[in-house]
Amino acid sequence: YKRITVKSLVDMKKRGEKISMLTAYDFTMAKIVDGAGIDVILVGDSASNVMAGHETTLPITLDQMIYHAASVVRAIERSLVVVDIPFGSYQSDPKEALRSAIRIMKESGGHAVKVEGGKEIKESVKRILNAGIPVMGHLGLTPQSIYKFGTYTVRAKEEEEAEKLKEDALLLERAGCFAIVLEKVPAKLAKEVADSLTIPVIGIGAGNGVDGQVLVTHDMIGMTHEFNPRFLRRYLDLYNEMTGAFQNYIEDVKSGDFPSEKEQY
Ligand code: KIV
Ligand code: NA
Repeated sequence: YKRITVKSLVDMKKRGEKISMLTAYDFTMAKIVDGAGIDVILVGDSASNVMAGHETTLPITLDQMIYHAASVVRAIERSLVVVDIPFGSYQSDPKEALRSAIRIMKESGGHAVKVEGGKEIKESVKRILNAGIPVMGHLGLTPQSIYKFGTYTVRAKEEEEAEKLKEDALLLERAGCFAIVLEKVPAKLAKEVADSLTIPVIGIGAGNGVDGQVLVTHDMIGMTHEFNPRFLRRYLDLYNEMTGAFQNYIEDVKSGDFPSEKEQY
C-alpha cells in the first residue's frame, strides 16, 4: 500500500482527515504499530524515559536515538518515521543542528526530524530544511526545557505565553516545517493555532480541535502505569496482563508443568 509522506499529511489536513501518530523505539513494536495502519511513527526522545528509565528526556544521546530510529525504520512499510533530535544536539548553533539531522537521516533511514522550540531555533530549522530534510516543530510543553519550566503542568494558560506560542507556530510554518506537535496546552488555544495554519497541528493533551493526535505507545497500551495525565486514554492494561503472564510462567516452571511432553524434543 501507499507510503505516507510529509505531503500526505498536509493533504490530510486539507481533506479534514485526522492524522494518527504513535511512538515506537524498536523493531518489534514498530512492526505492530505500522501494520495497524498508523500514519506517523515518532521515534521520540521519550525513549529516554520509557526505554532507558531516565527521569527526563535530557540524557538520551544522538547515537542512542539513531539506534532506536534505525530499528524502527527496518520494520515499517507504510508509516512516516519522524525522529526527535535529542537535547544538546541542535541548540548550540545551526551547523550543529544540521549535522545532527544529517546523521539521523543517513544512519537511521528516518524520513523527518522533530525539534522543540520556536524563535530560538529558527535558524537551525531553516538550515535543516535547506538540506532537504523535513522538520516537524514541537511547541507548548517541550520536555527538553523541563528544568526551565520546573513542572509538567499545562503551558500557555497566560496571555503572554499564548501569544508567543501563536507567533512561534506561524514562524515554524513560514520557515517551512511540515507539521507541529502541540503538547499540553488549552484546547481553545490549540484549535486557534490549528485553524490559523495550513500545516497540520498534532496534539497531545491539546484537545480535539487540532488536526491529529499523538500518544506514547507504552502509555496508551498500559505498559507504564505510574503516569496518569488527564489526556492519556489507555486502550489496554498490559502492565497487569503481562504481570499475570509472567506469574503463570513462574508457577509453571516451579511446578514442573512447563515444558510438557509436546514442548520438548
Ligand atoms: O518524545 C515523545 O514521545 C514526544 C511526543 C510526546 C510528542 O515528543
Ligand atoms: Na520528544
